[in-house]
Amino acid sequence: MAEEIIINKKLTKREKYEALMPQLLSLLEGENDIIANTANITAALKEVFDFFWIGFYFVRSTGGKEELVLGPFQGPVACVRIPKGKGVCGTAWDKKQSIIVEDVDKFPGHIACNSLSRSEIVIPVIKDNIVVAVLDVDSEKLADFDVVDEEYLNRITGLISSMV
Ligand code: SME
Repeated sequence: MAEEIIINKKLTKREKYEALMPQLLSLLEGENDIIANTANITAALKEVFDFFWIGFYFVRSTGGKEELVLGPFQGPVACVRIPKGKGVCGTAWDKKQSIIVEDVDKFPGHIACNSLSRSEIVIPVIKDNIVVAVLDVDSEKLADFDVVDEEYLNRITGLISSMV
């Protein structure tokens, strides 16, 4: 198992993701514990891209009601529970689709866990056609995420969807 992520800082964003994918596969190989794997994924992505905040929220049933509950993350402390349809995360869950937000102040109902966050991307983790978690990434810069992030973060969530 690889225990160190090595990426040349001079690469483009796409090249960094390309270099990261096989290292992530190696890191997750032979392990199917969802907490361990999502913890390592957030740590690896934080290390390579220095995201302001990156973390998973898992769909959990509490007293018969489903909501997103905070899972492994890297960055400042964050909101713990998010209802379906609320904020960017709850909307990505409800609509079952990735959402790129260039300016969080312009997203109706955006949940500001941290006032420094300016842009965001949320990718649903889908298992058997059902959203079981979301991956949320926040940036202190406006419009910091694009289709390249969406493409690779989608692939990364695909690696763990069967384990949730
Ligand atoms: N901004 C998110 C809430 C989660 S935090 O950013 C960590 C949202 O609107 O769903």
